[in-house]
Amino acid sequence: MGTEMNEPEPAAIIRRVAFWDLKAIARIEEACYNNPWSQDQLEAMLIQPDLEGWGLYLGRRIRAYALLRFRTRHAFLETLTVHPRARRRGHGMALMQVLIDRAAQRGSRCIVTEVHETNLPAQLFYQRTGFEMVKVLHRYFDDGADAYLFSARVRVTQPADEVCS
Ligand SMILES: CC(C)(COP(=O)(O)OP(=O)(O)OC[C@H]1O[C@@H](n2cnc3c(N)ncnc32)[C@H](O)[C@@H]1OP(=O)(O)O)[C@@H](O)C(=O)NCCC(=O)NCCS
Repeated sequence: MGTEMNEPEPAAIIRRVAFWDLKAIARIEEACYNNPWSQDQLEAMLIQPDLEGWGLYLGRRIRAYALLRFRTRHAFLETLTVHPRARRRGHGMALMQVLIDRAAQRGSRCIVTEVHETNLPAQLFYQRTGFEMVKVLHRYFDDGADAYLFSARVRVTQPADEVCS
């Protein structure tokens, strides 16, 4: 008789998130952040036409998600979050690759994101996935901490703009 522990992990599938995923996403938010987005806030964001939500699923369970906002020249990564129990298995990198492909498809020159100055795992993750730290935003966060602005080019042939340098 097989136990849950012996069952192989299902292959990861990455697709756009659906509204019925928002409860699970809100639970991951609560597990990860001091000021998590609520289900209602997530829903209000996802109906915005410039925002896309992408999720990584193992079977039916969402294990990582990202919110990507498309501006005129660049895409802004609002968040990329992996469930605490699913980290360091390459899920973040797999999701990021899809976001980079998607940004290129939509004509973005780069993806930018802001990282709390104390969030070393995220800083290392972004460096590993091709981002560079391009700017310090002083006292950016509510707690008075700086943000580091990270940027990754999605089209190497495009000329630089102010946030892509
Ligand atoms: C940052 C985060 C998205 C990484 O997701 P992940 O699925 O664990 O990352 P991956 O397994 O794809 O890791 C890719 C690489 O990033 C780097 N990395 C990721 N997490 C790291 C950590 N905790 N410490 C050091 N390096 C790390 C490593 O180089 C890693 O490669 P390796 O495992 O072969 O050494 C995840 O830790 C997370 O959700 N953190 C909380 C939310 C957050 O801070 N999001 C970013 C700001 S919105």
